[in-house]
Amino acid sequence: MIPVARPILGIEEKNAVQEVLASGMLAAGDRVKKFEENFAGRIGASEAIATSSGTTALQALMFGLGLGPGDRVLTTPFTFIATSNSILNTGARPVFADIEPRTFNLDPEQSEEILARDSSIKAILLVHLYGLPCNMADFEYLAQKYEVDLLEDAAQAHGSRFADRPVGALGRAGIFSFYPTKNMTTGEGGMVVTSDEVLAKKIRLYINHGAPERYNHKQMGFNYRMTEMGGAMGLVQLERLEKFVAIRRTHAEFFDQQLGMIPEVETPYIPPQCYHSYNQYTLRCQRRDELQKHLREEGVGTGIHYPRGLHQQPYYQELGLGDYSLLITEQASQEVLSIPVHPGLNNEELQKISRAIGSFYEAWR
Ligand SMILES: Cc1ncc(COP(=O)(O)O)c(C=O)c1O
Repeated sequence: MIPVARPILGIEEKNAVQEVLASGMLAAGDRVKKFEENFAGRIGASEAIATSSGTTALQALMFGLGLGPGDRVLTTPFTFIATSNSILNTGARPVFADIEPRTFNLDPEQSEEILARDSSIKAILLVHLYGLPCNMADFEYLAQKYEVDLLEDAAQAHGSRFADRPVGALGRAGIFSFYPTKNMTTGEGGMVVTSDEVLAKKIRLYINHGAPERYNHKQMGFNYRMTEMGGAMGLVQLERLEKFVAIRRTHAEFFDQQLGMIPEVETPYIPPQCYHSYNQYTLRCQRRDELQKHLREEGVGTGIHYPRGLHQQPYYQELGLGDYSLLITEQASQEVLSIPVHPGLNNEELQKISRAIGSFYEAWR
């Protein structure tokens, strides 16, 4: 089976981790610090804070912003649930606007309608879904107009750029995930990036039990730290990121050409100014579930990101966050299918994937 995602790990990662194991210093140390510095430099932020996952990065960020009961955060319903759970975890509530049909990202027009009537909204939390940047120009304008923070969940978007600026620190702060399916990995891991030094200080304390030094707890906090093994891997993977993204983009170009001709399938749409890093190559397609079954039988792994909007999740409905329809999201959740695009694919596998999709629709016509 060709997996839908696979981390690319080589001898350099192995050596880097082995060095840490041999040193016996396994908790965050010099490598994590260096990884933070290098990552901040790449993103163009003054601060980067390494965490144990993208989820804990989001939670630490929401805490650092001081969000709480009575506050609301505008976000997308078409994302992984960690995005909005991090809002709920503070006592604040997520508010969902619908997405754009072609990019699957949050729709600025629908967002403005909500911002204009709800003054309890304190921030917009964007998600660059699949690695495709949101329309940052529109959201920068909205954040200024309505005086709310602009935040980025760039968990899927290492290496993505909007108007030639790396995503992640285009607003007040952002986060990344280094889960093994992402564009680069530390096993599990995450990063908060910001150029707001007061915010960074709070987050740094939060991920370390609120203690600037041992047993001196100045604020709320937990252990959300990255391991030194993660830092060592991250340093190596960060150097390889540009190459990884370039290969993903070459694979995407191949699929654009091969699949763009199939009338039952829509290949990804890239708006002007967006540099897509293709963490996922996601098609909108007719008879999606049958196609997925066919591909499985042909030995091609796929993913559905995501099979329902967050407002349709049972837990969110219980909380009263889902008593309305978001039609574009609901339709997308029935039609999207992510196919393998990772840098580990060879030509034969690329051909096999595109042939299997072509043959499914040919048989149907
Ligand atoms: C958009 C988004 N946000 C947050 C996360 C959470 O990251 P992690 O799995 O590292 O906790 C993910 C991971 O899948 C994600 O895709």
